[in-house]
Amino acid sequence: MNAETGRAPRAHVTGWGRYVPDHILTNADLETMVDTNDEWIVTRTGIRERRVAAAHETTASMAAVAGLRAIRTAGIDPEDIDLILLATLTPDYWMPSTAALVKEAIGNQKAAAMDVAAACSGFVYAFATAQAYVTSGLAKHVLVIGAELLTRFLDYTDRGTCILFGDGAGAVVVSASDEPGGSLGIEMTTEPQGAYMIWLPAGGAKAPPSSETIRRGEHYIRMEGRETYRFATKTMATTALESVSRAGLTPDDIALFIPHQANIRIIEAVAKGLDLPMDRMMVNVDKYGNTSAASVPIALAEAANSGRIAVGDAICMVAFGAGFTSGAATIRWTVDPARGIAGDAAVDPSTVHVRLPVDWDAVDPIPAALAEMMARPGPVNPPLDDVVPDEPARPATEVQA
Ligand SMILES: CC(C)(COP(=O)(O)OP(=O)(O)OC[C@H]1O[C@@H](n2cnc3c(N)ncnc32)[C@H](O)[C@@H]1OP(=O)(O)O)[C@@H](O)C(=O)NCCC(=O)NCCS
Repeated sequence: MNAETGRAPRAHVTGWGRYVPDHILTNADLETMVDTNDEWIVTRTGIRERRVAAAHETTASMAAVAGLRAIRTAGIDPEDIDLILLATLTPDYWMPSTAALVKEAIGNQKAAAMDVAAACSGFVYAFATAQAYVTSGLAKHVLVIGAELLTRFLDYTDRGTCILFGDGAGAVVVSASDEPGGSLGIEMTTEPQGAYMIWLPAGGAKAPPSSETIRRGEHYIRMEGRETYRFATKTMATTALESVSRAGLTPDDIALFIPHQANIRIIEAVAKGLDLPMDRMMVNVDKYGNTSAASVPIALAEAANSGRIAVGDAICMVAFGAGFTSGAATIRWTVDPARGIAGDAAVDPSTVHVRLPVDWDAVDPIPAALAEMMARPGPVNPPLDDVVPDEPARPATEVQA
């Protein structure tokens, strides 16, 4: 509560940033791996290529780069962040939270940090949580990140799933302000009758990891594509509509929708459901595929940086995903969109370090099916230094990714 005005602060998006890995997996690459073809993938999904994280990258490292870029765009210091919310279904570990690793990597001492699990709706759920913290006065600057490393959880013999997903991270800073604008209306739904339509069976308490769960391939994402498609086309427009009307607006008032980038046909169905032309929908699914919780913040950052958002515009972010979940947030944009390009440029990914324990080495994380593609020379970022100052350096041979 502002002591002078007696009003609760508003929650504004003051910073945004994104990071995608350099390696590109094209539909032509997938043609060499499974029985599929570019024409089928483009027609049915709109996806032409997706990004694949290199061996030295993790969800935390991508999240930290996107998060720092959002902080730079906001023009604040990492230390100004008092809460970090990281939406992901592909955390680095079961514990600690990936958000905790990101807190250290961005050089923040004071923030509380936690992960948010709501699959592809995760970023919108985390954004809603940030809004609640900010408007209640519990936090002044919240770093909200969506980050995913899905390419390590795919069955490259299942053509129904392995063509869809990719890696990346996006982030926003949500800040308290007494100015008008910011977050205006939020809607979230969870429909557990769809719980097993997209799921990853093993690794949790119901089916702890074992050689048997691996033999059964239960450590990979499974999906009933048609059922999921049906849910998505049903829920996206209604969820967006509810959020827009809570903001006191109509779809026509929204300058740009930022829909979850799962499938171009689903985005077309949203446009149709809202009775709007496709130029009111942000689309980048062709470049990145479905990056789950990262897809909305990556698309938001690209929309702002490419001049598709202006100060004063109303924007609606809308997502759906496993659970089934869906969520939408309508916001009034209040910051010069040109700031994002400088924010992105200010953070060199090779300078961002996520610490690893000195006495442990992960096995090679690259799926065998992708190893050949990843071995090709390409514009790959240099490996991140994984040892913080004051900690004993790891033997040189182990540091090599
Ligand atoms: C996965 C999806 C693209 C499949 O498209 P679809 O039009 O529903 O296709 P179907 O599953 O009905 O399959 C049609 C045919 O194409 C085949 N097919 C499936 N994947 C294929 C691929 N990658 N390449 C070529 N053929 C493929 C099927 O085997 C089927 O063949 P059949 O008719 O001989 O049995 C679509 O269902 C979808 O996008 N669902 C939503 C998924 C999603 O968004 N998930 C993330 C949620 S956050």
